[in-house]
Amino acid sequence: MPLMRRLLLTLIGLLLAGSIGWSGLQRPEEISILMPAPFADATVDQVKQFNADHSGRIVLNVIRGPRDTESISDLAISSLLLGTPPFDALLVDVTWLPKYVAADWLQPLDPWFDDADVDALVAGARLGNSVNGDLYRWPFGADVGLLYWRKDLMPEPPRTASDLIQIASRLRADGKVKEGFVWQGRQYEGLSCNFVEFLSAFGGTWLDPVTGQPELDSKAARATVHWMQQLIREGTSPLAVSNYAEPETLQAFKAGDAALMRNWPYAWAELQSDSSAVKGRVGVTTMVAEPGASPAATLGSWGFSLLRGSQHQQATAEAIRALTSSQAQRDRFLQQGYTPTEASLFEDPELLEASPVLTQLKEALAIAVPRPITPLYAQMSDLLQRQLSGVLTEKRDPDQAMEQLQGATITLLRSAGGES
Ligand code: GLC
Repeated sequence: MPLMRRLLLTLIGLLLAGSIGWSGLQRPEEISILMPAPFADATVDQVKQFNADHSGRIVLNVIRGPRDTESISDLAISSLLLGTPPFDALLVDVTWLPKYVAADWLQPLDPWFDDADVDALVAGARLGNSVNGDLYRWPFGADVGLLYWRKDLMPEPPRTASDLIQIASRLRADGKVKEGFVWQGRQYEGLSCNFVEFLSAFGGTWLDPVTGQPELDSKAARATVHWMQQLIREGTSPLAVSNYAEPETLQAFKAGDAALMRNWPYAWAELQSDSSAVKGRVGVTTMVAEPGASPAATLGSWGFSLLRGSQHQQATAEAIRALTSSQAQRDRFLQQGYTPTEASLFEDPELLEASPVLTQLKEALAIAVPRPITPLYAQMSDLLQRQLSGVLTEKRDPDQAMEQLQGATITLLRSAGGES
């Protein structure tokens, strides 16, 4: 065989075996990230840009998962239990982190994000990313529960739980609006998020962070559940809220059917769209609280976590950085209304002009309250949702429900070797 031909064959052989690096001929690293469908859709352009910028080196694929936190967590967990999941990173809801870290599924992000990165985050976006001092999640957007109110129906929003009922009743009695207050009462994670805000309104707490004990049969917790039942019984909220998740709640408020709504910040952009009956007539504030109690905003938010089993950690971290860059945050805020995480963006004139509610979002983020931080959170939340849903649909008595819930939560924590 002529020398040239032999050399060429050897070269091709080496390249195919991957034993020599020749940037022009190297196969790009393929990486994938699992995200709930709405976030996958919100990042399409950014992913295209990332792939163009890393052409020949990295190809990022986004796996579009289900929207609900429970369904996507089930999907992620079943893949993780199989050992070799078909993705390198995933968007993690804030409540999943303790469990995923305890299961040893995640790789710390500290090599790629330092203290200065963390310090640049707005309060609220700094929460829920670390476990035992190690960073395991980098926030995709900030998320916190808000109270939306109709500026054309009331001069200012209600500030106490009793106020809320009074204002809503008057508006309904005067025939100004069909429904008073819409929120998420379906038996799913959104109900637990609403409960955390309502419970704070009465001065209660779900799990005492110091003792690790549940406080679900406290006076405050009972008052909360009685109030939730009263909202529906007395017509401040339609019975339908006991089957509402975020989209149904938003739909009712956007159609002009309700005076007040509990929802996340993403709803704002939708309420300002041309298809909204309440465009330009909506204010944003934080949840009510009885005198002496502090209002709270449930900490939501999704963030990127890198899987320990990923064979492409550096490339995946680069993708996470790109998808959470200042520019990506700006674009997502301006185009889809997803709240940024970088503190400086809350003072940005262009963003403030596009959406003056950024100021209220920052205030809400400053009073963000996490759901219980424990690997057992999903089970705790499930127990809570069952009892609350029973009360809202008149199948359970509030006091009995909370007593039983307290007992069941203690049993759960004990059986898992918890502190109770
Ligand atoms: C939002 C929040 C998330 C929460 C979910 C409940 O997506 O960011 O934390 O679990 O709503 O529906």
